[in-house]
Amino acid sequence: YATIGIIGAMQEEIKLLLEQMEGTQSEQHAGLTYYRGTFHGRKVVLTQSGVGKVNAAVCTQVLIDRFGADVVLFTGVAGAVDPELNIGDIVISASSLQHDVDVTALGFPRGTIPYQAVSEYPSDEGLVRLAQAAGEKVFPGRCRTGKVLSGDQFIADRAVVRGLYEELGGACTEMEGASVAQVCHMNGIPHVIIRSMSDKADGSAHVNFADFTVEAADRSFAIVSEIVQSL
Ligand code: ADE
Repeated sequence: YATIGIIGAMQEEIKLLLEQMEGTQSEQHAGLTYYRGTFHGRKVVLTQSGVGKVNAAVCTQVLIDRFGADVVLFTGVAGAVDPELNIGDIVISASSLQHDVDVTALGFPRGTIPYQAVSEYPSDEGLVRLAQAAGEKVFPGRCRTGKVLSGDQFIADRAVVRGLYEELGGACTEMEGASVAQVCHMNGIPHVIIRSMSDKADGSAHVNFADFTVEAADRSFAIVSEIVQSL
């Protein structure tokens, strides 16, 4: 890969990487800031997409079109959906799906975008393997691979999060990953999403998110740093 695109939604999710990049130059497009530079000797473009699927989608298309990103890594925090996951654990995307797409009234399954070949976007298998190896090295026993569920909703309810697990088989939930995956899929660009758990998407989610986001974001970055070194 010649140009590695790296996206985080919030300032906390890009902070360490931005500090560690070299020769950094910034540019604005569509209201977002893109940082070109090098990291572990590789050419990277880092951006803070902002929160939500539309921000992340626009950001990804700009990364591909204007910066020539030929691989996209997403780094950040998520709410745990699989009850076996604890705060700080890491999910590597096997695939991702937009859980808030609901055309069930017309008979389409929850999460399915009508008249489209795929609604669950597989991550690049090679990137998943590199991420798994990175995870085993950096946080042994704390990483797993699973389905990332994205929606324009902060989930903070036990019944809702149980539904995401039982109906959609999600590992974690966040607000950007599957839209990045969709744009990458539409452009034929490989991607993987790395998410560290800041909360359990339940009644305590808002408190845990506030307390654990910085630590969780830093753990996700540690994996991304290792991936970039092995790309
Ligand atoms: N990001 C981190 N925690 C989240 C949650 N509970 N819901 C949606 N996005 C999140």
